Amino acid sequence: MDDPFRYGSAVSAPYFVGREQEMAELEIDLRSGQDVVIISPRRYGKTSLVLAVAERLRKQGVSIAYLDLMPCSSKELLADKLATALYDGLVGFADRALHKVQELFGGVSLRPTVTIGPDGTPSVELGAGERSRDVDAVLARLLELPQKVAHDRGKKIVVVLDEFQEAPVIDPHLPALIRSVWQMQQHVSHVFLGSKRHVVERLFVDQNEPMYRMAKPMILESIAADTFAAYIRDRFAATGQQIDAAAVSRILEITDCHPHDTQELASFAWGLAVAEQVTATPELVDRALDRVLKAENARYTEIWSRLTPHQRLVLGALVASGGASAIYSESYRRHYRLGATSSVSRSLKALLRDDLVEETSPGEYRVPDTYLRAWLARLTATSTTLTVQARDTITLSEMVAVEIEPLTLARGLPELPHK
Ligand SMILES: Nc1ncnc2c1ncn2[C@@H]1O[C@H](COP(=O)(O)OP(=O)(O)OP(=O)(O)O)[C@@H](O)[C@H]1O
Ligand SMILES: [Mg+2]
Repeated sequence: MDDPFRYGSAVSAPYFVGREQEMAELEIDLRSGQDVVIISPRRYGKTSLVLAVAERLRKQGVSIAYLDLMPCSSKELLADKLATALYDGLVGFADRALHKVQELFGGVSLRPTVTIGPDGTPSVELGAGERSRDVDAVLARLLELPQKVAHDRGKKIVVVLDEFQEAPVIDPHLPALIRSVWQMQQHVSHVFLGSKRHVVERLFVDQNEPMYRMAKPMILESIAADTFAAYIRDRFAATGQQIDAAAVSRILEITDCHPHDTQELASFAWGLAVAEQVTATPELVDRALDRVLKAENARYTEIWSRLTPHQRLVLGALVASGGASAIYSESYRRHYRLGATSSVSRSLKALLRDDLVEETSPGEYRVPDTYLRAWLARLTATSTTLTVQARDTITLSEMVAVEIEPLTLARGLPELPHK
C-alpha cells in the first residue's frame, strides 16, 4: 500500500491542500504584472504554491520560467541555468527546433548550445565566446530576454527565482543587476521565493538595499488547522485506515500545522497504524513521534555538537519559553542565564544564519523545526542530571554541558515512557 502522505520536495494534488486564498491572490498579482516576494520559514510550501499557480497560469496561455538559485554556485553557472530555465519556460515542446534556439537567444545577441536529454529536458550552455565576455553583460542580456519575448509575442510571462536568499551569496552585486534590468519590464511578472526571512525581508524592505520595494511581500503562514485535519482524515481513509479525531488533533498540536512536519508525522502514524492494523490514536501518534525523532537523531546530534555552549543555551531557552519577543530583556536573560546582550546577539546571529531560529516579526524569535523542538525537550528530560528539575533555569544552563557520547549516538535516543 502506498504511503498517502508526501514530504520532502514540492507537492501537487492529491498531496497539496488548502492555500486557496494565497493561490487566488498570487494568480491575480501575476496576471496583472505585479512582482511578488514570497517569504516563509523552510518547508512551508513556497515552491509547491508557486508551481500550483504556475499550472493554472499555463492553462491560460502564460509562459513561466522557473529557476532555483540554490545549485548556482557561480555567476557562470547561473548564466547557464538561467538560459536553460528561459528556454524551458518560453519555448513550447512543439517548437524545440534548432532555429528556435537562435531565434530566442539571437534576439539578445547570444549563441548558446542546447542539448535535449532523453526525457526531453533541455540543457543550455553558453559558448566559449560568451564565457570570455563579461559575465555580468551576459547575465544582463539573459535577464532582458523575457521582456523581449513578451513584447514580440504579445504574451504574458512570469519568471520565478526560487531560493532568492542565495542571490547575494552568488555575488553581492547580483540583486542590483537583477533590479536594474527587471524594474523596466512591463509585460513580465517576477516572483522571488526566500526562506531566510531576515535576509530576504531586508533585501526588499530596507531602503538601502537594491531590491527595495521591487516586489509585493507575501508572508506564507502554516496551513489552517481545520483544512489540515480534514486532509489527514481523508488521506487515511483513501487507504482504508482509520484515525480518531483526538489523534488528528495530537498531530497538529505537535507540529503546529507546519506543512512538511505534519505530513511527516502523519506518514509515520499511518505506517504504525497499518503495521498494527489499528485505528490511530493519540498514543500511537506519540509513538510515531518517537520514531521520527529516532530517524532524525543523527542529524540533530550533529547540529547540537556543532553549537557553542552559549548557542545551545539560547536555543534551549527559546524552546523552553516557546519562542521569545523580549530575548534581550534583563528578566529573560536572567531567567535563562544568557549573560550579556552582546553574547545573546552573537549567538542569535549564528542560529539565524543556520536557520535554527527564525525571526517571525521584528524582535520575535522562535525555533521553527518541530522535531528539533521535541528533540531538545527530550534531551533536557532524559539527561540524568536534569530530570529532577526539568525545565527550570538550572536545567537549561546544565543542558549546555550535555555532550552526546558516541554510545548514545549509536543507540539513538532512549525510549521514553508515553503519556
Ligand atoms: N499545500 C500543501 N499541502 C500539503 N503539504 C504541503 C503543502 N505545501 C507544502 N507541503 C509540505 O511541505 C513540504 C515542503 O514543501 P515545499 O518544498 O513546497 O516548501 P518550501 O517552502 O519551498 O521549502 P524550502 O524552504 O525547502 O524551499 C512538502 O514536501 C509537503 O510535505
Ligand atoms: Mg522551495
